Order: sequence, then structure tokens, then C-alpha cells
Amino acid sequence: MKQPESIARPEGKLAVLLPGLGAVSTTFVAGVCLARKALAEPFGSLTQMGTVRLGKRTDNRVPRISELVPLASLHDLEFGAWDLFPDDAYEAATHARVLDQFHLARVRDELSTISPMKAVFYPEYVKRLQGTHVKQEKTKADMVDALREDIKRFVTQRRCSRAVAVWCGSTETYIEPGAVHQSIQSFEEGLKSNDPTISNSMIYAWACLKEGVPYANGAPNLSLDFPAAIELARQTETPIAGKDFKTGQTLMKTLLAPGFKARMLGVTGWFSTNILGNRDGEVLDDPDNFRTKEVSKLGVLEQILQPSVYPQLYGNLYHKVRINYYPPRGDSKEGWDNIDIVGWLGYPMQIKVDFLCRDSILAAPIVLDLTLFLDLAKRAGFRGVQEWLSFYFKSPMVASGLYPEHDLFIQLMKLKNTLRWMVGEDLITHLGNEYYD
Ligand SMILES: NC(=O)c1ccc[n+]([C@@H]2O[C@H](COP(=O)([O-])OP(=O)(O)OC[C@H]3O[C@@H](n4cnc5c(N)ncnc54)[C@H](O)[C@@H]3O)[C@@H](O)[C@H]2O)c1
Repeated sequence: MKQPESIARPEGKLAVLLPGLGAVSTTFVAGVCLARKALAEPFGSLTQMGTVRLGKRTDNRVPRISELVPLASLHDLEFGAWDLFPDDAYEAATHARVLDQFHLARVRDELSTISPMKAVFYPEYVKRLQGTHVKQEKTKADMVDALREDIKRFVTQRRCSRAVAVWCGSTETYIEPGAVHQSIQSFEEGLKSNDPTISNSMIYAWACLKEGVPYANGAPNLSLDFPAAIELARQTETPIAGKDFKTGQTLMKTLLAPGFKARMLGVTGWFSTNILGNRDGEVLDDPDNFRTKEVSKLGVLEQILQPSVYPQLYGNLYHKVRINYYPPRGDSKEGWDNIDIVGWLGYPMQIKVDFLCRDSILAAPIVLDLTLFLDLAKRAGFRGVQEWLSFYFKSPMVASGLYPEHDLFIQLMKLKNTLRWMVGEDLITHLGNEYYD
């Protein structure tokens, strides 16, 4: 990445385009509307609440992130979405049962005006859902064109100066990248011939990349994590990020595992199980869709604990992840972890974590931060995979040949250092020589 000479100001309105108007999207949109009216606080959002230390600790320079870099204002966000169900954002939020009426009633007017555009939906990638609010085009290439028209129309009608997209649609069935995903040309041919390894989310991502609209992928499906899309992102100067929002159990894992490793404690087993009852849980109840999630969740410990570097500590780690669909819980998931750790002289110990979390409450601020940071990245002239946004993902996308960084604290340092670097401030390595000056 080249250091930006200047970053364009966030003039005008920013279109926020959301494929998937379900629990996460509606919780995000409602939260922004509530925060705009100062009716609730945007907890969990780095862009709204975080600070960055600049210079030496004695300098006392700790601006808010929003004071350091030019981010779009919440008041300038204009929301659009696609879904295979025609419900508007108020109806979808009511159905999702994440936020209560105390909050929803206060932003009902805004939410009711957000009606989804017709979805690109080939049902074979999400077998548990059947919707009627879908586009009818002959080929996948025609679907890309139809989405591009939607984007252009939305931006013009709402008088936006630019757009960002965040995939908040359902998790799709597991797909390995194949020949069609290797180059722009092979992918475009695949679109014309309705290649079965091109899923719905890839069609959205392709349309956005063609339009130069920054795109983040909140689900574990490939979407744009393949060479052709990365090449197109570079060609169209579009920043991209993914995949799979880091919330709930995986967030806990990336908090705890670096701590065990820092103290050279061994880990022999990590069993994680969840119950959840929202539509996401219903989709993940299908083994093909669960496989996509499983792959995304399993990679985390391997990379943080580095069993090849520390074979005595982590060489025999048994890691298992389960997700169980249990309707009574709705969006209020419960995630249990049993962690078998080993201390001095090989003595075993156990840790039990019971996280009664709310999935969409954890995911919504991530959608906001990704929206604002991707828009910033675009105005700063960045393109391709934005590794500094790995902080937000279970399975971070990286440039080819590199391994992803999963440790939340290293990810945060990278994010903040990127912000410092963007505006020409010194990077902070925590190796300062305050003690020797
Ligand atoms: N909530 C979290 O903590 C969390 C964490 C990581 C990842 N995710 C992922 O985020 C995504 C959204 O989660 P959610 O809880 O909001 O799920 P949800 O089921 O409530 O919402 C998903 C919406 O996407 C729609 N959809 C599916 N395919 C579509 C398509 N092709 N075009 C347009 N719309 C489509 C569905 O109709 C649904 O309304 C899921 O993939 C989930 O795995 C969520």
C-alpha cells in the first residue's frame, strides 16, 4: 500500500448497501438511527468510541479515531438492501426479535422506508430458504448487470456521492475455489454459462467490484475470497475485506488463546458448542452450510497457537466446534467452551466458558465500522484486500501466499497503526525508549 498524499473528505451522502436484510442488518440500521437521535450509545464500535494514542505516552495526545481520520458521519448514511423476502426493515427487525419495541418504535418511521430490492437467489446455495422476492434473469451475467443497475439507481435517486456494501446474507453451502475462480476472464465466462460454483454472494460481490463499490463479506462463504475477485478489486481500485464477522465464541477464542500462548500454557483440547434459534441458526442446520462455517471457525486456534513451533504445548490439540439449531433461543445464543489446558510439569486444568451472548448485538457495530473504514480506505486510494481490517473477521482474507493473523491484539495494533500511517503520524510499536531518554 502507498501512503496517501491526501485523503478526500467524506463529502455528501454514503449509500450503505446490504445484501440480506435480516437480524444483523436490521440491528445495525436501527442502531445507527437510534444513535443519530442520541437515543442509544453505539457500544462495541471502534469508529464511534475508540481512541488512538499518538506520539509518546507523556504527550497526552489521544484523539478519537473519528478526530484522527475523516470518517463519514452517521447522519450521512443512506441505507439500501436486497432480500428474497419483501419485508421492510421494520418488519424484518420485528421478525428477527433482537431489539425490543422500546427501541424499534422510536425508529419505526426510518426503518419502514427501507424496502429491499429483489434478490439474486439461486436456492441451491441456501436450501433452507424459499423466497419470492427474487430477480428473474436468464444468466448469472445478466444478474450482475441487474445488480449494477440497482446500485446506480439507488445512488442517483438518493443523491449519494459514493457507496459501500456489506454482505449480511445467509451463509451459503461450502464451495472450494476452482478453475472458474482463477481469473477475471474465466469468471466472466462462468457467469455467462451459469457455472454452478458461482454462488449468489459472488454475483453481488462481482457487481459491486465492477461498480468500484468497496465490499465486506460478513459470512464465511467465499463471496470474493478468490483470485479473480481480488484481481478485479485491484483493477477497479476497490478496497475489499472478509470474511465472517468475528463475534461470539470465536471472539472469545481470539481473546483467550493468545493469553495461553503468551504464558506458555499448553492446550490439549478445546470443545465449543452453541445453541441458537435465529434464521442464521436454521440455515446452519443444513450440513452443507454448516461446513462453510466450520472451516471458518476451525482455522483460528491453529494459527494463534502455532503447533508446529510449539509441538509440546499444542501438538496434540483436539479442537471441535458444534452449532445446534434450537428455536426457543432466537438470537440470544449460548456458547459453551470446555478448554483443557496444561501447566507446570504437565498438570492438567480446565476452563469453562458459558457465553450468553446476542449475536446481532455483537455483529452490528462491526458492520458500522467496516462501512466507515472501507469508505475511508477508498477515499485514501487503497485497493484490494484490506488486511488491517482483519480485526473484524473470523477468517481474515490475506494476499496470496500469506497466512492470516487471528490474534485480536495484534490485529488491533495493525488497525491503529494503519490509521496513524494514513495521516503521517509515527507508528507505535510499544518499544519506545521512554526509560532511557
Ligand atoms: N450475528 C453474528 O454474530 C454473525 C457472526 C458472523 C457471521 N454472521 C453471518 O452474517 C450473516 C447474517 O446473519 P443474520 O443473523 O442476520 O442472518 P439472518 O438469517 O437473520 O439474515 C440473513 C438474510 O439474508 C437473506 N438472504 C439470503 N440469501 C440472500 C441473497 N442471495 N440475496 C439477498 N438476501 C439474501 C435472508 O433472506 C435473510 O433475511 C449470516 O451469513 C451469518 O452467518 C453473523
